[in-house]
Amino acid sequence: MTTAATTPSAMPAAPPKDGLPSLIAYLTRVLKTPTIGAFWEELAAQAREENWSHEEYLAALLQRQVADRESKGTVMRIRTAHFPQVKTLEDFNLDHLPSLRRDVLAHLATATFVAKAENVILLGPPGIGKTHLAIGLGVKACQSGYSVLFDTASNWITRLSAAHHSGQLETELKKIRRYKLIIVDEVGYIPFDQDAANLFFQLVASRYEQGSIMVTSNLPFGRWGETFSDDVVAAAMIDRLVHHAEVLTLTGDSYRTRQRRELLAKENRANRD
Ligand SMILES: Nc1ncnc2c1ncn2[C@@H]1O[C@H](COP(=O)(O)OP(=O)(O)OP(=O)(O)O)[C@@H](O)[C@H]1O
Ligand SMILES: [Mg+2]
Repeated sequence: MTTAATTPSAMPAAPPKDGLPSLIAYLTRVLKTPTIGAFWEELAAQAREENWSHEEYLAALLQRQVADRESKGTVMRIRTAHFPQVKTLEDFNLDHLPSLRRDVLAHLATATFVAKAENVILLGPPGIGKTHLAIGLGVKACQSGYSVLFDTASNWITRLSAAHHSGQLETELKKIRRYKLIIVDEVGYIPFDQDAANLFFQLVASRYEQGSIMVTSNLPFGRWGETFSDDVVAAAMIDRLVHHAEVLTLTGDSYRTRQRRELLAKENRANRD
């Protein structure tokens, strides 16, 4: 029996007998290619007008379907990444940050580091643009087809603690490993107690050479021992994090301060005039 694998309930409605448009509508439903279903007619008109070959018409139609599917996938991945806001690298003013090497950023934007399970560490003072860059790079990874999950360091710890207390830590770490890239924002602002530091270590260890981590921190590595209340755990964690990693140390003024300064200058000018 050749048709035994398809149950009657899984079968789409029977093929229509009333002409080409309904046949195409039926076939695109079966193939789950709604974009082709929506655009074949419009593109066919264009093809006739511009004398496309059959092959050109077919390629254009398939291309439309693939582009649509990819962009829907990207939208979905960005939504499930839980970025606090969607910020893009295109909106990032590189002139404000001469300490950031453009070639390195351009390379990271290709997201090949995710394919290689490498890490990215963004270090620098408040307001320098670490979170913006982490989100922007996360968005690029989503556009390249990788699943991403963003959260602050303290929320990651809350999640891991809850799993640990219910005896589910291994399952949770396995679940997190399904994401190709996780972003841990704001390491260093809130100190971790010993238990939290151990959980964070386990998160890093469980992804070592298997999945990417992007970390932002206002503290240089030399001061991570303070945050993790344990120099030994901090050292072992940094060792794993930086083994295959791009470490970007950003220096300069806070962008927030700059914006405030510019606003004040504008107000002063307006008051003077
Ligand atoms: N070079 C830049 N171009 C455009 N916007 C920027 C730039 N740097 C920072 N910003 C903007 O300034 C604000 C602060 O940046 P961001 O939150 O990324 O800083 P941060 O380094 O994460 O600071 P913190 O350590 O306090 O969390 C954000 O609104 C961000 O979009
Ligand atoms: Mg930040």
